[in-house]
Amino acid sequence: MLLPNIDRPIVLVGMMAAGKTRLGRELAMVLDLEFIDTDKCIEDETGQTIARIFEISGESAFREMEATKIRDMLDGALKPLVLSTGGGAILRPESAELIFGNTYSIWMRASLATILRRTAKRTDRPLLKNPDPAKTLQEMADMRYPIYARADIAVDTDSGDVEGITADIIRQLNLLRDRNS
Ligand code: S3P
Repeated sequence: MLLPNIDRPIVLVGMMAAGKTRLGRELAMVLDLEFIDTDKCIEDETGQTIARIFEISGESAFREMEATKIRDMLDGALKPLVLSTGGGAILRPESAELIFGNTYSIWMRASLATILRRTAKRTDRPLLKNPDPAKTLQEMADMRYPIYARADIAVDTDSGDVEGITADIIRQLNLLRDRNS
């Protein structure tokens, strides 16, 4: 497989449970880049889970931390790495500008049915802890998809085939590099 020469961050966006972390790790390994997950950084720095942060401090406090993390990573000198962002990170316009302006951005796209199935038995997605998660997901998708669609590349992740999806991303990154050179 021909590997693209990556000269700036690759940023993964998309709904929760679309596979950003799993695929991000694989992509970083194949490209020999560092992998960073904004949710994990926030959990490590606060010593609390995302669910707990939502519970005690609320969503807007979490969004502030998320936006700060993205600014730290993407504003200023840019180094090649793979950065996975939480599903709502692009809701802050300043974060969206940094992501879609300065990086290779990739929309990890899974169907809502897949997301519902993957999240059904989990308790770590506070925004879906309500009686009608399908409706919540649909509302999120309506608001977010037009923003995710700004990404340079979109990949479908329903198959869960990590190797195949990673190969698709590399193929599209090569095309993008060719187009931009
Ligand atoms: C969120 C997605 C989560 C996490 C938080 C909010 C969202 O990250 O940041 O629960 O608004 O979609 P993942 O997309 O990594 O699950």
